[in-house]
Formats: sequence, C-alpha cells, structure tokens
Amino acid sequence: MRHKLAAGNWKMNGLSGDLAEIEALIAAHPAPKVEMLICPPATLLSRMADTVGDHPLHLGGQDCHAAPDGANTGDISAAMLVDAGARYVILGHSERRTDHGETDAVVKAKAEAARTEGLVSVICVGETLAEREAGETLGLVGRQLAGSLPDAPIAADVVIAYEPVWAIGTGKAPTSDQIAEVHGFLRAEIKRHMGVEGDGVRILYGGSVKAGNAAEIFAIPDVDGALVGGASLTAGDFSPIVTALENA
Ligand code: 13P
Repeated sequence: MRHKLAAGNWKMNGLSGDLAEIEALIAAHPAPKVEMLICPPATLLSRMADTVGDHPLHLGGQDCHAAPDGANTGDISAAMLVDAGARYVILGHSERRTDHGETDAVVKAKAEAARTEGLVSVICVGETLAEREAGETLGLVGRQLAGSLPDAPIAADVVIAYEPVWAIGTGKAPTSDQIAEVHGFLRAEIKRHMGVEGDGVRILYGGSVKAGNAAEIFAIPDVDGALVGGASLTAGDFSPIVTALENA
C-alpha cells in the first residue's frame, strides 16, 4: 500500500506572516489520514518546523546542491535542509530545469546527495506543450525518469511527480485520460528500473490542481497524490485538496 501524499510547493513565495497559514492548516487537519508535505522557501524552513511542532505535517526543500559542502555561493546542501527540519526535497522541477539549466544528470547527482542525508527526493518530470503536440510525451518523461533516478533506488528514497509544463500555473489541467496514460506509463517504467520495489513508489500529479478538480484527479489509477503550487499557499485553498485525497 502506498501512503498518499498531498504536497505543496510554495516556490518563491512566503514571508514570516505566512506561517499563520501553516497554523491554520494543521488546525484543520489535526490527525490527517494522508501524508502532508509543504516545501516553503528555504528561509522559512526552520521557523516553519517550529510552527509544525509535533504535528505529522512534513517539510521539504525546493532544491539542494549535489555537493555536501564547499564554495557554492547561494546554494543549499541536503544536510542543511535536514538541519532546518526538512524530510523531503523537490528536485528537477521544470522551473529549475528551464531557468537553471538542470539536466537529468544534475538531478540524479542531487538525488544521490539527498539520499545520503536521508531526504526523500520528489523528482519532477513533464513535457512542454510542443513536446506533447509532437507526440514525444512518453519518450521524454521516460528519459527524464531514467536519467534522474539515483542509482539502485528504493521506494523510500523517491517520489515521482508528473508535472506537464503547460499545466503549471495556467489553470489548464490535462484530461483524466491524459494523466492516466502518463501515470500508467511511469508506473511500468519505474517497475522496469526497480522491479517489484517500484510498486511502492508514489507518483504525484502536479499542474493546476485545485479544490475543484482534485477529487477527479485523485480517482485516476496510479495517482498517489498531488504536488500543488498556487493552491498550496493558503490553508483555505490547500485544506480541501488534502480532504479530497483523504476521501479518494
Ligand atoms: P500550480 O499548482 O500553481 O499549477 O503549480 C504546480 C507546480 O509547479 C508544483 O510544483
């Protein structure tokens, strides 16, 4: 049985005042039946960990460096994320692949650094609209998956997030059939790489998930939760998504 995961990616949003959203979120879900994860900007991690206290809400980073330490101005190591209270780290988000030129090899190196520190990597894959229209979706996400997984992965090390670039922040989620096709393909590919261990890897969908479409998305086979951007920023928007996953 895969434990369902409702994950929020705050991206470059969030100041001290927004910790009130976490207080409201944990108050709304005192004993969640699914795993909850928020990945705030690194500047908020340790204070958010204090806010969370004993509540089972997990925290994560949005990126880490592949090196354990050193002369990497502006970067954050996996150990620093753990030290600040993180259990997870998002890696290879399309915004980092595009804006920071991250290749699959870079993502893989980061996933190995994360594993060394005991962090679970949320590895993102997904096609652009041009790639989808050219019929390249499955080939592309298959290559991203193969190139980004750490060597000899186990299910506890990784979560995969399918995030079509054209659905991120656009309000245009794919159809259920489109999501089902990619998640089914990813499940088969994960098992090809990992054997039966791959049955335990959670596959999240991400891209314009909202309260209004969450239940429909969570009913799709091989969708084990969501990676939510905009609708994770407030408790009012994120809480109904958590509830929809609990009820799926
Ligand atoms: P939106 O939910 O804002 O479309 O963002 C999705 C995303 O990129 C999460 O990582």
